[in-house]
Amino acid sequence: MQTLETPTAQSAPSYTREDWKNGYQSQPEEFAYWIDDIEGEIPSELAGTVFRNGPGLTDINGYRLRHPFDGDGMISAIALQNGKAFYQNKFVRTEGYLAEQASGKPEYRGVFGTQKPGGWLANAFDLRLKNIANTHVVYWGGKLLALWEAAEPHRLDPHTLETLGLDYLDGLLKEGDPFAAHPKFDPECNGEERMVNFSIKTGLSSTISLFEFSPDGTLAHQHKHSVAGFAFMHDFAITPNYCVFVQNPVSFNPIPFVAGFKGAAECIQFNPKAPTKIVVIPRNGEGEVRFYNTEPCFVFHHANAFEQDGKLILDSICYDNFPSIEDAEDYSKVDFDHVPASNLWRFTVDLATEVVDVEVLTERACEFPTINPQNVGRDYRYLYLGAAHGSTGNAPLQALLKRDMETGETQLWSAAPRGFGGEPLFVARPGAEQEDDGWLLLWLYNAERDRTELAIFNAQDITTGPIAKLNLKHRVPYGLHGSFTPHYFGPQHEAS
Ligand code: CO
Repeated sequence: MQTLETPTAQSAPSYTREDWKNGYQSQPEEFAYWIDDIEGEIPSELAGTVFRNGPGLTDINGYRLRHPFDGDGMISAIALQNGKAFYQNKFVRTEGYLAEQASGKPEYRGVFGTQKPGGWLANAFDLRLKNIANTHVVYWGGKLLALWEAAEPHRLDPHTLETLGLDYLDGLLKEGDPFAAHPKFDPECNGEERMVNFSIKTGLSSTISLFEFSPDGTLAHQHKHSVAGFAFMHDFAITPNYCVFVQNPVSFNPIPFVAGFKGAAECIQFNPKAPTKIVVIPRNGEGEVRFYNTEPCFVFHHANAFEQDGKLILDSICYDNFPSIEDAEDYSKVDFDHVPASNLWRFTVDLATEVVDVEVLTERACEFPTINPQNVGRDYRYLYLGAAHGSTGNAPLQALLKRDMETGETQLWSAAPRGFGGEPLFVARPGAEQEDDGWLLLWLYNAERDRTELAIFNAQDITTGPIAKLNLKHRVPYGLHGSFTPHYFGPQHEAS
């Protein structure tokens, strides 16, 4: 495996901590308006709705959360049609959001360490998790679902973003059942598009349930498997024949969580001497679950996977260690130089010999990989990522990176010093024949204006910058994941 050296001489940072931190400030207000501040032109062929989820609050009535991942889910939507754009945002009315907004204080402990006021005594033995619905939002089978991996989805009205309630997927889930926040969309399986997702229950051993849904939302297929040991699995990848997971070499010590000192995610311990396991489950539910050991690393997100000549190729964003916030008082004090950076790795698994080759493909810190949805599970050429401005070291995601997986060439556009990005979304141009013929949509926090923008790039050449920038009237705190649907869920625009 290639190794990359940590640079010793630090160049001047491309951002200030103050600017970066401001992008996390709560946005308690809910808006609905036509975006009238647009730089450039929205392509008229770009029609549909962009949804995005993320923590909308990083405090509860002034009580600061220790980690933004504990923040209540807030959905933003931009509906695009005929070059016009309508923005709206709403909090998911979870039980916890309603209770805490009514009482004006934290009533639950956060998975990432936010504690209720009152010290450890108030937190000890309170194992209730708050379903914060803040990780992803997808439209499938006529339903808009806000997802959070440790509990059931919330269903929303796609036109108004109003919360309709918890959704048990037509009885598939029971009360409190988890449903992962990273469904994969297979462009073609048995003649139809499929949504594939998993649900994991973990402890001393783990159970992974897999579900496949037809386009009308009905269940096409379901199976369940046991995996030895604790498993922290945030995301997975699919190919036509397999579901692919990475079992990170971590263990879970529940005592500080039960005793009230720490949040559950803070009790995860990385074991650098143990191998990471690539877990391969046949999608048809038949045959054994297979495990392939590889280099120790920690993975949240996968870019893609595909099968080629008896090999399984898996492209993932890997950290050398579990990127915990350690003993920092809260997330805003995190020292980026001391948190492991994430890089793109390619695992090539020889399914017959069980040999796994690892190649580190980027030196620049990156996260939130995206590809053309038509290439999910297939060989692909172009990968798009949120990336650091600097070519080495760790820093917030200020840039957009496009990588040609065939030639290794890259394109970069950066919003530094005062812009901060995240997950890009690829939308194909209607009738496109080339894989990168389409647009990249990127939510940017502009620290100079303390406002958020949606930037639209021509995916074939990102270096020239956005072809359109939709300037919102306010800040939207950094989000996690989002999706695009060709359905237009905005109001009709009155011709002026
Ligand atoms: Co994620």
